[in-house]
Amino acid sequence: MKTLVINIKQLVQVEEQPRKWVAGADMARLGVIDNAYLLVDGDRIEAFGKMEDLDLESVYACNDTVKEIDATGRLVLPSYCDSHTHLVYAGSREIEYIDKIRGLSYEEIARRGGGILNSAERIRKASEQELFESAYARLQEIALLGTGAVEIKSGYGLDTESELKMLRVIKRLQDETPLAIKATFLGAHAVPAEYKGRQTEYVDLIINEMIPAVAAEELADYIDVFCDRGFFTVEDTDRMLNAGMKYGLRPKIHANELDLSGGIQVGVKYNALSVDHLEHVGDDEINVLLGSETMPTVLPGAAFFLNMPCSPVRKMIQAGLPVALASDYNPGSSPSGNMKFVMSLGCVNYKMLPEEVINATTINTAYAMGVEEELGSIAVGKKANFYITTPVPGIEYLPYAYGSNLVEAVFLNGEQL
Ligand code: NIG
Ligand code: FE
Repeated sequence: MKTLVINIKQLVQVEEQPRKWVAGADMARLGVIDNAYLLVDGDRIEAFGKMEDLDLESVYACNDTVKEIDATGRLVLPSYCDSHTHLVYAGSREIEYIDKIRGLSYEEIARRGGGILNSAERIRKASEQELFESAYARLQEIALLGTGAVEIKSGYGLDTESELKMLRVIKRLQDETPLAIKATFLGAHAVPAEYKGRQTEYVDLIINEMIPAVAAEELADYIDVFCDRGFFTVEDTDRMLNAGMKYGLRPKIHANELDLSGGIQVGVKYNALSVDHLEHVGDDEINVLLGSETMPTVLPGAAFFLNMPCSPVRKMIQAGLPVALASDYNPGSSPSGNMKFVMSLGCVNYKMLPEEVINATTINTAYAMGVEEELGSIAVGKKANFYITTPVPGIEYLPYAYGSNLVEAVFLNGEQL
């Protein structure tokens, strides 16, 4: 079965030569074809180009059925890749939201047993089936908002069985939904209550028990550590990344959200695929990232929701770095997986251009979750994960109209949802 989308007002993020990521000044450049077509064969992109170059006869010469879609006045974009989420969780945390409005900080809430530990208590009690069903609904929601690939972390279990339970749920989501999903083991998200004051012993448990168990069931692609003030130290992180590396788990690090934590440096030392949050970044951090294979990833939804300082994105781009933007979808610091809103925040709060936020949420996040060869752009041979907008004036309208959905049709693996 083939799908032929015709009369596309703008086909966005096209690549003749697929790239790993885009950096520096290139982030403001975007491949766009006006009045375009897109041809999909099965689950892959077969061809694209200008309408005037479309050879309809050859498309219809094949024996396959061809489904034709007229996209007059509409844009077509590759699905967002959301390279940082915690969307398997049990229960929302709007009470903490009110605490925050009343003036408590994220760290104060965490110290009182709220925050991550609150979610941990609930996840331990929840069944695998309950967790699967609620996460499945969240995936449905974000798929209809244009997300086609998502990384999901464990990290609310904080004991071996509960961490494995979360990762098994992620595995089932991989098997039972059309989204491309990567799994990250985040046992080092917080020190659980029963290990209070015994952080090193908890790190030992992660190294000696959790990582081998996760690897034995092949449940994770990546390993993450919350390396920040009040959470895990650089030394803890170094030990855990070292242990993870022995099992082939490449790091993706929570770093520099609360302080110049050293998380970026230790991440780069272990060739992390990404370092994420980055509210605190100085010249040292930028220099370490330059020339590395690590994607600096900013989470504008979390900074917005917690009213934190913004990462110096312009400075990083000016220095020649790539920047990715992900949602951080989780019940505490970012209860939304809306990547279009993330783009709007990128424009308004980080002074990024529409072209930059599109690159930051597609090809750069694809790299940050290890799917850049398959997803993140419109390129021949890549997976046909894309969406068609409602009639809009142009790409600038997407981040501008921050409260409107604007997604009319979603295709994952070549099939319309
Ligand atoms: O990425 N910063 C660490 N972890 C999550 C928050 C998780 C939570 O509050 O439940 C984050 O923002
Ligand atoms: Fe996070």
